[in-house]
Amino acid sequence: MLDLSQGFERYDPVWRAAKPYMRARKNDVHIPLSFAWAAQLLETYTEADRDICLLAILLHDIGWHSIDMQDIIEKGFSGPNMLQSDVRYLHEEEGVRLGTEVLRSTAWDDATIDAVCEIIDGHDTRPDPRHLNDRIVRDADKLWRFDVTGIAVACDWFKLTPGAYAERLEDQKDKLETEAGRQFAAQTLAASRNTLMLHVL
Ligand SMILES: [Fe+2]
Ligand SMILES: [Fe+2]
Repeated sequence: MLDLSQGFERYDPVWRAAKPYMRARKNDVHIPLSFAWAAQLLETYTEADRDICLLAILLHDIGWHSIDMQDIIEKGFSGPNMLQSDVRYLHEEEGVRLGTEVLRSTAWDDATIDAVCEIIDGHDTRPDPRHLNDRIVRDADKLWRFDVTGIAVACDWFKLTPGAYAERLEDQKDKLETEAGRQFAAQTLAASRNTLMLHVL
């Protein structure tokens, strides 16, 4: 993992402004981990826009703050249509609304705000990503789940054992958007399988 303690200070005011919206759904764990994955992907994809990718991953899920936790689990994380459920669309709309507020209050320009909001709006529900920035944010959004921490959190969301969830990740690892993302997913999942003793459990 990259060291995020230096070189990312320009985003500190955004973290502080977004903090009140980050406890929902353990986003205060998901977002820092996914932010680090976005930073890692940006080391490979240097042609992507760093500010837009990092701000979009930082703010993409703060819209969950506006949605009842029971609804999140019942409608947003189970069933065959979970990725198209109303709460999924709602968390994107609310993410655009709250994200715009956060970025305005931290003095980002309109062009950056528009580009970040374009990614937030549809990050779960739009079938295909539109460009490299979008693809990097989508991969960073998923990569944290391949690590032990992500497996631990997602197991609870989806009511699965670590072994059953790892099987689901085996399918998902090849569907990431970028080549680097697919490699990180495969390596991280293999390491998590070892750590969690999934060859036995
Ligand atoms: Fe989301
Ligand atoms: Fe997310």
